Amino acid sequence: MPARAAVHRVAHRGYSTVAPENTLPAFAAALRAGATFVEFDVRVTRDAVPVVIHDRTVDRTTDGSGRVWDLTYDEIAELDAGSWFGAGFTGLRVPTLAETLDLLAPGPAEILVEIKPPATLDEVKSIVAQLAERDLLGRSVLQSFDADVVRKVRDVAPEVRRGLLLFRFDAETVELSRELGVTCTNPSVEDVLRGPETMAGLAAAGIGVMPWTPNDMAQWRPLVDAGVSGLITDLVGELTGWAGAE
Ligand code: G3P
Ligand code: CA
Repeated sequence: MPARAAVHRVAHRGYSTVAPENTLPAFAAALRAGATFVEFDVRVTRDAVPVVIHDRTVDRTTDGSGRVWDLTYDEIAELDAGSWFGAGFTGLRVPTLAETLDLLAPGPAEILVEIKPPATLDEVKSIVAQLAERDLLGRSVLQSFDADVVRKVRDVAPEVRRGLLLFRFDAETVELSRELGVTCTNPSVEDVLRGPETMAGLAAAGIGVMPWTPNDMAQWRPLVDAGVSGLITDLVGELTGWAGAE
């Protein structure tokens, strides 16, 4: 039997158990901890600056309030994105996509960019352009929960690897993944464990599967046995030290 490839160790929002999610220290920690992919979320400000933040609003992860697309970059840059996590992180900023890519550019990890909807064609172009400026297109996968955003990525940069995030996992998942030409389809942990037929269909199509977000280490062995190609987890350092990832 051929040896199974090692699973990707994907740092979800950076190494987000040791530093605030989606901040530069979380990304630096992910690299130090041996992540093979660093995942983060991109949204665009009112004045069209791509920034790295998960939620629609800044309320949970900063000391401000309001929706990201209603705020200018200057307004977001004033916010404290670290205090909520711990006093030692006070004063951290919401990073721009540019700052994040500058940190990740030296490598060695690959880059998993989640584009949060809505994202216009121009916004997708701007994200792709920032990757291209740093010669990072070949080291990146652009993914979204919104199939239309994935289509925009395909239209703007057909050569770049794409990923589809889904809340369903069935025969239509395989069809849609094939139609979009994605290299990975990334469902929930529960969907993978409940969906051996869909796993087989994706494997037959040569499409990888990296579930989110297995933060209970007891989930890792069943997921690897189910055939996943990576694990998107907040515990990337622990995953690096886990013998089953090899
Ligand atoms: O990369 C997949 C995962 O990040 C999707 O969920 O809500 O953490 O962005 P969420
Ligand atoms: Ca994400």
